[in-house]
Amino acid sequence: MTYGILFLGDVVGEPGRKVVKEGLPRLQDIHQPLFTIVNGENSAAGIGITPKIADEFFSWNIDVITLGNHSFNKREIGPYLDAKAEIVRPINYSARLPGHGHCRLEKDGVSLAVFNLSGRVEMDPVYDDPFAAFDQFDQETDTPHRFVDFHAEATSEKIAMGWHGNGRATAIVGTHTHVTTADERILPGGTAYITDVGMCGPRDSVLGMDRELILRRFRGALPERFEVASTPGVISGVYISVEKETGRAISISRIRFGD
Ligand SMILES: [Fe+2]
Ligand SMILES: [Fe+2]
Repeated sequence: MTYGILFLGDVVGEPGRKVVKEGLPRLQDIHQPLFTIVNGENSAAGIGITPKIADEFFSWNIDVITLGNHSFNKREIGPYLDAKAEIVRPINYSARLPGHGHCRLEKDGVSLAVFNLSGRVEMDPVYDDPFAAFDQFDQETDTPHRFVDFHAEATSEKIAMGWHGNGRATAIVGTHTHVTTADERILPGGTAYITDVGMCGPRDSVLGMDRELILRRFRGALPERFEVASTPGVISGVYISVEKETGRAISISRIRFGD
């Protein structure tokens, strides 16, 4: 017996929300995932998430929202992160910050732990050791069904985390760079891995942002506020098939929708 996990990468702004709202029912129809997880760290105008947007995600049949380095950019999200179990921010932030880094879902006899971690390479210097945080999660989690969103910049750190958690997680998938990598695979211990799933956001952009603004900046213009591009969105994600009895991943495939 198997079940599926559908995971979509960083949803960027209004174009990202729109394409997910329109495309997710079709993806769920095609793949029939038991669990749908979405990274929402860029969903509010490209930076952060609001309670209203999070509620909207949950109304679209999304089970868990994961976050990243933009978890707290919209300050009003703090109490929501404390109150709502199914939204997780990187666990290796300071414990003084609002929210929590993992949650548990029960469906169809499967108890799935969802865990959000941030990398440290080329990231703000505010995170504890993600490898140690993973070890603690491993020791404290009493289900073999474990999904990890590792939100990190460096490919090397993400690949290293894949090997670190090999055989100790159902899936370790990368987010944050907004660019999909072509290295999805099942590691020898039965862990589904990809360095980055990519984003759900405007395709004709620079990582979701208005390309003209970014180009001007690269070409020496004075700093301006970056804005989310208004071009049509694409969905990027992965579908992971998992053995129900053991929590071992059987397959991982990339999903691209809306191109
Ligand atoms: Fe992001
Ligand atoms: Fe990020």
